[in-house]
Amino acid sequence: MSKIVYKFGDCRELIKEVPDKSVRMVVTSPPYNIGKKYGKYSDKVTLEQWIELIDSITKEIYRVLTDDGSFFLNLSPIPYGLDKEILPLPYIGYNIMKKNKFYLRNLITWVFNNMQNCTKRLSGRYENILWGVKDLNNYVFNLDDIRIPYITKNDKRLTGNGRNPTDVWYFDRVNNMTKKKLNLSHPTIYPVEMIERIIKMSTNEGDTVLDPFLGSGTTLVAAKRLNRTGIGFELDTKYREEIERRIQLEGQIMEQIKLDLK
Ligand SMILES: C[S@@+](CC[C@H](N)C(=O)[O-])C[C@H]1O[C@@H](n2cnc3c(N)ncnc32)[C@H](O)[C@@H]1O
Repeated sequence: MSKIVYKFGDCRELIKEVPDKSVRMVVTSPPYNIGKKYGKYSDKVTLEQWIELIDSITKEIYRVLTDDGSFFLNLSPIPYGLDKEILPLPYIGYNIMKKNKFYLRNLITWVFNNMQNCTKRLSGRYENILWGVKDLNNYVFNLDDIRIPYITKNDKRLTGNGRNPTDVWYFDRVNNMTKKKLNLSHPTIYPVEMIERIIKMSTNEGDTVLDPFLGSGTTLVAAKRLNRTGIGFELDTKYREEIERRIQLEGQIMEQIKLDLK
């Protein structure tokens, strides 16, 4: 049985309760500073304040991770300031990771289709996931658990269980229709299947996974499905009911939910 724990408050404080080197993997999508309406958190702070938030949590993440642990940080380019110049947050995230002694193992590009169309620039259709490790010679990578079907199915040279999924991933964003069906209100929910891939590839059953910016609870849903211990922190108690319900429902009877959504 997986153990799932979530607490409400500022993750920079709550993470201090997590013992050193007790977590195998951290996956998180922090606020992007683009004015999303989360509730308690003001998603429009100065760039310096945002960098300070990510830097201080990254420092703690390094402390709680095992020596062979991994940190997956999901960020995207954002329109920033009055003139909405594009600010590449993944590059800033990279500098913060390096400053805190992480090595970059992959810069994953997550591609999707369903998103608003721009009229003054090319429409944005990707986000990045920076995969950082503490030790380039010692980290968990269960490639066989995340292989995907070969492109050329009849190629006789191809044996084995499928191919490496590469560093370009396609996962649909959670759209409004799905949110309505599952009765979810959080504005930025990431796809459970994507987090499942990350958990499978970088942890083993029974390991502990942490998400300091939990949002609607996606990481804990995925952790529960995969028999990992999950810890999550969220500033806003407004999402308590949503998190509880998702863990109960989606954490267990996903096959049924998938059928209902078709
Ligand atoms: C981008 S959302 C995460 C969404 C999540 N990945 C999901 O699938 O639902 C970021 C979340 O971080 C929360 N947050 C912002 N600052 C925080 C802090 N200092 N400590 C904990 N949570 C915080 C916001 O309330 C918001 O729900």
